[in-house]
Amino acid sequence: MKKFKLGTATAAFQCEGNLTTDGRGKCIWDDVLLNDKSIAKYNPEPASDFYKSFDVDFKLAKEYGIEVFRLSIAWSRIFPTDASTVNKKAVEQYHKMFKAMIEKGIVPNVTLHHFDSPQWFVEKGDFLSKENIEDFLKFAEFCFKEFSEIKYWSTLNEINAYSEQKNIKAALPPFFTLEYGQFFKQQYNMVLAHSRTVNLFKKLKIDGEIGVPCNLSPYLPIDESNPGDVLASQKANAIINWGFLEPIVSGGYSQETIDLLNSVLEHYDFIFKPQKTDLQEIKLARENLDWVGINYYATNFVTKPDEIIDFSVNTTGEKGKSKFNIPWLWKTVSKPGVKSTHWDWPIYPEGLAIVIKWVSEKYNCKLPIHITENGYGDLEDITKTPFIKDYDRIQYIQDHFDVIQKLIDEGEKIEHYYLWSHMDMFSWTNGYNKRYGLFYVDFETQKRYEKLSAYWWLEKSKQDRLDEKVDLKELEKKLGK
Ligand code: BG6
Repeated sequence: MKKFKLGTATAAFQCEGNLTTDGRGKCIWDDVLLNDKSIAKYNPEPASDFYKSFDVDFKLAKEYGIEVFRLSIAWSRIFPTDASTVNKKAVEQYHKMFKAMIEKGIVPNVTLHHFDSPQWFVEKGDFLSKENIEDFLKFAEFCFKEFSEIKYWSTLNEINAYSEQKNIKAALPPFFTLEYGQFFKQQYNMVLAHSRTVNLFKKLKIDGEIGVPCNLSPYLPIDESNPGDVLASQKANAIINWGFLEPIVSGGYSQETIDLLNSVLEHYDFIFKPQKTDLQEIKLARENLDWVGINYYATNFVTKPDEIIDFSVNTTGEKGKSKFNIPWLWKTVSKPGVKSTHWDWPIYPEGLAIVIKWVSEKYNCKLPIHITENGYGDLEDITKTPFIKDYDRIQYIQDHFDVIQKLIDEGEKIEHYYLWSHMDMFSWTNGYNKRYGLFYVDFETQKRYEKLSAYWWLEKSKQDRLDEKVDLKELEKKLGK
């Protein structure tokens, strides 16, 4: 039996909709998107109505060769008001959801936190407060014991990216911009939350496996022979990638990484010195961890920064809007010959190999790897093109599959691949315009439509090797489309 499994991914708040159904409590995004008109660009209701229409998506999953499926439990549905009052209706609904998947032979991989801290938790300081980790552990323990049908658990999705949205990109409370000190403090607490959750899972002797989806985008020097570019890239990798990856996959921090981190953090009057008790917890979590998740989308190219602050994030899909130049950090530049998406994300499949080697070689972590996210966001409109022929997405996935196959051939233990995303959902800061799904969602009618990539995916699911190709001309002919 081949061990490698193909799957797709979702996240509760991005697809569930039903914001007031079954006594759900608000999460961090509700008020940001619904009340603050200066920021709100879209309404998270009804999203893809997944909370109720999940069966439609699981049927498609089964029909199109999807074996594993990533989804998350909304903490604010299970504990809507505080850390201990359980909402039974939501618990029942999640049982129904998991049953529907499992009956179809689809294996769930469930994330406990996917960017959606409950509002009551946010009001206590979210993960910026170390004491609050206890609340997350109560939620985790409840889920581990209650949902015994789940065999794959993920702790916290993209620890660095959640902290980035709050402290760098000002997308979420406390709406800080470029506050790398705060960013690191929150990220550190989330590393601890992850570690303590993994250790709890093993202490409770839960039957299953636990891992963590790590968002990794390498920052490469545009000129490897230029020391200024190399230093810029090291600083960026330390603060964005290694600062959280290293403790998770190596069980501690090297002096080299601590020094690099502090070369950034000193600008924010903060010097990082991990506490001994935290380090014990982190080390034990590394020993207890079952698999490492990698979310990979893009690679950044950097150079020595100029003496001005120039920072903007592309949230519209209008090319060229992303800018990053911070005098004490780095400057992001484009690399000739490397294409990027409409949102200025450089398409560089080689970057996936770089981050996998960080885990297996730089940090000598030989645990199984799951590619927990990878995918291509595009502007698509079914009212203009009734059948979405998403050639760019297909190319993107195939190119990344080629890299994965090569690594598997070389001996890397890559076991699952989850495409972001199963069906279209909204994108956190880009709204409904940025679509990633194999299945197009008409958000008005909630109808699903197969894109060409869904048919292509079905063909891929029948192949033995990821680098085998599908003849698209033949496929289109066969489909008559
Ligand atoms: C990951 C997240 O960061 O990337 C997903 O885990 C997210 O939730 C995905 O949607 C794509 O990012 P974006 O910003 O294009 O939606």
